[in-house]
Amino acid sequence: MSKQRLHGKAWLLLLFRLQGKVAIITGASSGIGAEAARIFVENGAYVVIADINDQLGHQVATSIGLDKVSYHHCDVKDEKQVEETVAFAVEKYGTLDIMFSNAGITGQNSTILDYDLDAFDNTIAVNLRGATAAIKHAARVMVAKKIRGSIICTASVAASVGGCADHDYTASKHGLIGLMRSTCGELGAYGIRVNCISPYAVATPLACKAHNMKPSEIEAICTDFANLKGITLKTTHIAEVALFLASHESAYISGQDLVVDGGFLAINRCLPTGHDNP
Ligand SMILES: NC(=O)c1ccc[n+]([C@@H]2O[C@H](COP(=O)([O-])OP(=O)(O)OC[C@H]3O[C@@H](n4cnc5c(N)ncnc54)[C@H](O)[C@@H]3O)[C@@H](O)[C@H]2O)c1
Repeated sequence: MSKQRLHGKAWLLLLFRLQGKVAIITGASSGIGAEAARIFVENGAYVVIADINDQLGHQVATSIGLDKVSYHHCDVKDEKQVEETVAFAVEKYGTLDIMFSNAGITGQNSTILDYDLDAFDNTIAVNLRGATAAIKHAARVMVAKKIRGSIICTASVAASVGGCADHDYTASKHGLIGLMRSTCGELGAYGIRVNCISPYAVATPLACKAHNMKPSEIEAICTDFANLKGITLKTTHIAEVALFLASHESAYISGQDLVVDGGFLAINRCLPTGHDNP
């Protein structure tokens, strides 16, 4: 449809899909979260970056523009800090429309035979308990203020199958899908949507640490293993899906795990079919 044929307000809605919305993004000092902060602001939102990496978080906020973005220290393992971050966003911007619970850590690289259960607890505390605190405190504000909000959690392809990541990471991300489905059931009554995004591998600091490789090495290996050829998955691809789930364009989507993997999980290449990728 041409620009001229679109009604003025509709054109603005297309250009600024989060006009005036307020979002918290956890884990936004780096990687997927930092890119989502950029894209949300480009689409008209106010964003609170909630992270433990204060130096990087301030840098990201400054590079996007402090008129639209704030940094707030928040360790998602600590429920009090999550609650305070939500209160900060409401105090500063007046409301909370979007919670993008994205903070995550890699797991311990160990066999189950030698597993360190304290390290297991730590991974679960960030990846699953942290997301639970984010959903809880965002939902409290949304329910009290009668906001039909959008809650998005970053899961992973490791949320659907084993063998893609460490045991604790895999367990935490499987748990996140259950948490998303369960809370979507309760929060639907208030018009609040809850969804997950599940990326295939992206060369962020988390992925580099998990595999002890440079970004270029991660991208080379993951492109080799990928189902969809001719494209390398970047943080922008994931952030754009977060934008979709945050915006009105996904108004009736809730309880979904939106997998962004170019078909990786749909295919099992154990047996040759004769028409596999060349
Ligand atoms: N990169 C990938 O290949 C990939 C694939 C699937 C899923 N994911 C998920 O994407 C999300 C974002 O990761 P990324 O790849 O952008 O990595 P990243 O390392 O670039 O970013 C993770 C961010 O989380 C922050 N963080 C870590 N612990 C925290 C805590 N306790 N409280 C608050 N913030 C904390 C870090 O400081 C960092 O800024 C994670 O949940 C990760 O599991 C990543």
